[in-house]
Amino acid sequence: MKLKQLSNNNILIAPSLLAADFSNLKKAICGVEEGGADLLHLDIMDGHFVPNLTIGPPLIKSIRKYSGLIFDAHLMITDPLKYVESFVNAGADHITFHVESNNSPREVIEKVKYYNKTAGISIKPKTSVESVLPYLSEVDMILVMTVEPGFGGQKFMPDMMDKVRVLREKIKSANSNVHIQVDGGINEETVKTAFDNGANNFVAGTSVFRHPMGVKAAIDILKKTMLTA
Ligand code: DX5
Ligand code: ZN
Repeated sequence: MKLKQLSNNNILIAPSLLAADFSNLKKAICGVEEGGADLLHLDIMDGHFVPNLTIGPPLIKSIRKYSGLIFDAHLMITDPLKYVESFVNAGADHITFHVESNNSPREVIEKVKYYNKTAGISIKPKTSVESVLPYLSEVDMILVMTVEPGFGGQKFMPDMMDKVRVLREKIKSANSNVHIQVDGGINEETVKTAFDNGANNFVAGTSVFRHPMGVKAAIDILKKTMLTA
């Protein structure tokens, strides 16, 4: 499955592996796949672009064989251009990088496309939505961060919804299939706000992997919450 085959009118859930039990990743991944996840969100941090370190290509490569989900790599790294190839070789299907990175966004997008993968561009909370508008016709996803990138388990920032609304409007009028992803603090209380403002692709770490009723119930609840008035 490729992101391009999915409509940006579909509600898609992307559990963030960062909140999973790292001592049993196989179980975590199979659990969310069986539980109805649409993508697997992989948070890559380099201790430079953001003040935290997480996982890299070798780990992605080792989990690839356990899942058919779209591997959605979120690169919170300096020099994404330099690492696109490694993430593609490790098994990423989709690569999102930050517009605030030091590379030319257009060059990164071109490189991702060269490998026949889908590309996304992300903005941190303090970055304006205008900074990604020039790339709207070149990417498959825009990721609006709803927390400061670097850590899971933070509080959703409702102020980011203005950006989501602007994007949905532009995407609608261009009749384009660009997905609007939100990431950070998405749970039963906040997901509907993001959905009502126009997001269709929801990253959820803590609220899925640490849900007391389990991952399947967590995904079901998120989806149901959006569909009820
Ligand atoms: C934050 C990451 C997120 C994070 C989300 O920098 O990009 O994907 O894992 O975690 P929750 O859903 O717990 O806020
Ligand atoms: Zn993320």
